[in-house]
Amino acid sequence: MQFAQRLQPLQANVFADMDQAKAKAKALGQDIIDLSLGSSDLSASDHVVAAIEASLHDPSTHGYLLFHGTQAFRQAVAKAYSQRFGIPVDPETEVLPLIGSQEGTAHLPLAILNPGDFALLLDPGYPSHVGGVYLAGGQIYPMPLLAENQFLPVFEEIPTSVLAQARMMVLNYPHNPTSAIAPLSFFQKAVAFCRQHDVVLVHDFPYADLVFSPDSTAPANLNALAPSVLQADPNKDISIEFFTFSKSYNMGGFRIGYAIGNAQLIKALRQIKAVVDFNQYRGILNGAIAALQGNQDGVQAMVATFQKRRDAFVQALNRIGWQVPLPQATMYIWAKLPQPWHKNSIQFCTQLVEETGVAASPGAGFGKAGEGYVRFALVQEPDVLETAVQRIAGFMRSHK
Ligand SMILES: Cc1ncc(COP(=O)(O)O)c(C=O)c1O
Repeated sequence: MQFAQRLQPLQANVFADMDQAKAKAKALGQDIIDLSLGSSDLSASDHVVAAIEASLHDPSTHGYLLFHGTQAFRQAVAKAYSQRFGIPVDPETEVLPLIGSQEGTAHLPLAILNPGDFALLLDPGYPSHVGGVYLAGGQIYPMPLLAENQFLPVFEEIPTSVLAQARMMVLNYPHNPTSAIAPLSFFQKAVAFCRQHDVVLVHDFPYADLVFSPDSTAPANLNALAPSVLQADPNKDISIEFFTFSKSYNMGGFRIGYAIGNAQLIKALRQIKAVVDFNQYRGILNGAIAALQGNQDGVQAMVATFQKRRDAFVQALNRIGWQVPLPQATMYIWAKLPQPWHKNSIQFCTQLVEETGVAASPGAGFGKAGEGYVRFALVQEPDVLETAVQRIAGFMRSHK
């Protein structure tokens, strides 16, 4: 059988190798503590589940959902966004429901790139950003994120030959995997740069709510710590932003997100999606409306839970002599690997899971500039995280 060439770059996947190492460790009888996946272990709120359940019993929700979702969903999204960020949004032309934000960010390059065009991506970055560019036949220019630059890209380093053929830039702050946040001034710089070079600016924003307050007694100032790209491009001239219910509302398995932004970009993405899917199930859209319009206690509880886990895990790592900075956002700890693994994150993660059952994600899986780091997802309770750190300590001692 012959397959398309576009499949080739999709085959090398560090995470599939890690899954194998996890399966092997399990077969060897290891008790697995899985910190490798950013899939929340928390549950969706009761009022969300109730709205979906009620929809299940309503046969009018059982058919195809044509066009671009329901008007009620688009209006709820536009209202919630405008209330939070103070920027008016037209629900008919500037909002698009998605089957998760990964689906949207992976499809968007098909609407923007011609074969050979460049996409400017964060390195390390989210794997589907890379995959979507490959599917569209585009080229990737990885913008390295270094600790000394607060894990922000340096636009001035992008070669002019690349810029001449660059059509899109993808940002993602708060950032997976480094947990870095970016100030509004950074987004303003990005908008000016992309405008100057006629590049579409894409912002993947799944951790919009997962931001910790520097003062743990007060709620975080979300719009300052985690700005929307549209705060820097309020007329929506060149930008599109992707949101998800997976993190804020613990709805990862329900597959629901949305894009907001420039009407032409929304229309173009809608045209691609019209070929591929008939939208998410109407009942899940109803659950998402309930999430946006109902009480937000679940969001606050989720943030408090991850903050506690972050504190417990970082303190435990520091106690065993592994100093890692305290992240201000996301559900991840991005830890610089000590010797002898400082250049081999894959070996570290493979050996760690096989010998101790603790599964983490190798930095190299997120891009070349991720090498030398490991990402721990805080998807277990503090006592389990502390057990994981004890096992890590034993592992490090035995490999000294
Ligand atoms: C940067 C980033 N984008 C997208 C996603 C996927 O979100 P969704 O569940 O909406 O597809 C994730 C999930 O971890 C993510 O970290």
